[in-house]
Amino acid sequence: MSKGKFYITTPIYYPSSNLHIGHTYCTVATDVMARYKRMQGYEVMFLTGTDEHGLKIEEKAKQAGVTPQAFVDEVVAGIKELWKLMNISYDRFLRTTDDYHVSSIQKIFKAMYEKGDIYKGSYKGLYCTPCESFWTESQLVDGKCPDCGREVRYAEEEAYFFRASKYASRVRELLKSGDFLEPASRVNEMINNFIDCEGGLQDLCVSRTTFKWGVPVDFDPGHVVYVWLDALFNYTTALGFLNDRYDDYDKFWPADVHFVGKEIVRFHSIYWPAFLMSMDMPLPKKVYGHGWLLLDGGKMSKSKGNVVDPVVLAKRYGVDALRYFLLREFPFGSDGSFSNEALITRINSDLANDLGNLVSRTTAMTEKYFDGLVPSERESGPEDEELTAMARALRDRFEEQMEKYAFQQALQEIFKVISRANKYIDETAPWALAKDESKRARLGGVLYDLLETIRVCVCLLEPFMPDSCALFRAQLGGEGFSWDAAAVWGLLGAGVRVRKGENVFPRIDVKKELAELESASAPAKDEKAGEEKTGLITIDEFRRVDLRVALVESCEAVAGSDKLLCLRLDLGGEKRQVVSGIASWYRPEELIGKKLLMVYNLAPAKIRGVESSGMILAAEADGRAKVIFAGDDIPAGSRLS
Ligand code: ME8
Repeated sequence: MSKGKFYITTPIYYPSSNLHIGHTYCTVATDVMARYKRMQGYEVMFLTGTDEHGLKIEEKAKQAGVTPQAFVDEVVAGIKELWKLMNISYDRFLRTTDDYHVSSIQKIFKAMYEKGDIYKGSYKGLYCTPCESFWTESQLVDGKCPDCGREVRYAEEEAYFFRASKYASRVRELLKSGDFLEPASRVNEMINNFIDCEGGLQDLCVSRTTFKWGVPVDFDPGHVVYVWLDALFNYTTALGFLNDRYDDYDKFWPADVHFVGKEIVRFHSIYWPAFLMSMDMPLPKKVYGHGWLLLDGGKMSKSKGNVVDPVVLAKRYGVDALRYFLLREFPFGSDGSFSNEALITRINSDLANDLGNLVSRTTAMTEKYFDGLVPSERESGPEDEELTAMARALRDRFEEQMEKYAFQQALQEIFKVISRANKYIDETAPWALAKDESKRARLGGVLYDLLETIRVCVCLLEPFMPDSCALFRAQLGGEGFSWDAAAVWGLLGAGVRVRKGENVFPRIDVKKELAELESASAPAKDEKAGEEKTGLITIDEFRRVDLRVALVESCEAVAGSDKLLCLRLDLGGEKRQVVSGIASWYRPEELIGKKLLMVYNLAPAKIRGVESSGMILAAEADGRAKVIFAGDDIPAGSRLS
């Protein structure tokens, strides 16, 4: 029976490039919470997605020579792959370019306008392009954007404004009362810096005219909706608010908790409630602002380029080991420093040594002394009391921490019991008991307590390490693993078959591994340093781009587009199809039979629904694109170097 509903969300990420370990951190935390609540019997809605509009994306797409939609489609496909790899059990994935979301946003904008909460004015101020935020002089930190630390520029535009000032006192009350925003340490920062600051809470500029890639304001062409208004309402449009794609808004809204990084707490704890107040909608129950993963003392960020790739780590050390590390190593509400050494050390000490050893020693001894059957004859002893008391109390202690989103402490509670169980093996020395036939019942009692302890721990570790726990469950006979079962001692039945399986968490050779990771990332670091200073790339970086000569076999316009041509190319036997935005300058027949240059190893993408595998090289000259043709004497398929 359902215990009720639980609605949890991640931020919707910008698909401006691939996501890194920081985004993975927040998504894994959300996944663990969702799995934990499902295990408890809640009906869970776990929402994630992508925030696809805005100038930043428009510019990135331009640089890549593709449409913004083609650009985001490709990055989003990669994001979904990453979540699949990381075993993320989201229920819904919203893209802000989805039609239903776009039309809901238009209705919301209009409703707020008609109410008088959005009005037209003009904006003069300091603007941070990457953050798409206007700032006042006093809000800047060292003359730079207070959110990301980058340069701001003076900007002026006609724009719509949201009357945030009207809701300032209600938002202040919300922040002060109860536990809407956590950790509590962030509350005063928000009130002092943004509400009770000089000039009070400023009205927010909620439309843009300087670029096109956004939700159009339908009653005023030329304006697009500010990305944050577009993005924040995702939490409700994904449930069907003002659209008929879904219909569980009444069931799941308000959200139980929004997990967000601390840099976007301002948007979630001030503007988001104010927007909802304007729309007379219920407010989310909680916003949790988690800390940052730092690298070399600074925030990892896509634009700084100092990121750690979760795919590399997950493939090298295992998805579950990485999930565990992220939530065990860093207190969720505070910042933490990421390092490869911390990751490997943590895997070795907790997973290979403590948990892995406990399971393999216990299952091996059950096989050896009891033919792999849960012992039926069991005698208790003086060593049992402390271990069994800890294991019996574990579920409550774990729950207490999980309810506070204190993942690190919740895991600590489990690992205290695991350590205690390893100590219990040393104290009871089952191998010595096994030598004395008269102690067989005591040996049975000892192994039973160990098996039960493992069972309880595995129940609770499940949301963190789902795949590994499935292996552990199988090793322990498969029955008695649920939230309810975690609170009961003595569930494993006599005679259940126990197997020592494969080592789930093999020990990692720290020195060797660090040296390998170091050599894999060292050139990249040096290149980065060089690049920052000079804008140059190394020969190795250049070599990664595979350029080839291709013969145009056929070419035609892409239906419904006056910019795109679809070219079918021959590369010395191999055929390729490439979509290129050169239709304004070339007619198909001008290209057929010519040899041109292409990027051969570009990740495939769908452009206007047409498969494209590669990119044609062209120069920008005289205000147009000019395709670079290769001489007739160079065979199709030749590689450039
Ligand atoms: O802000 N450490 O998207 P975004 C920990 N689209 N977490 C990190 C991190 C780090 N180094 N880097 C990123 C946006 N994150 C908006 C959100 S929501 C309506 C719109 C995580 O792609 C963290 O959760 O910049 C942060 O808030 C989020 O990624 C920002 O992702």
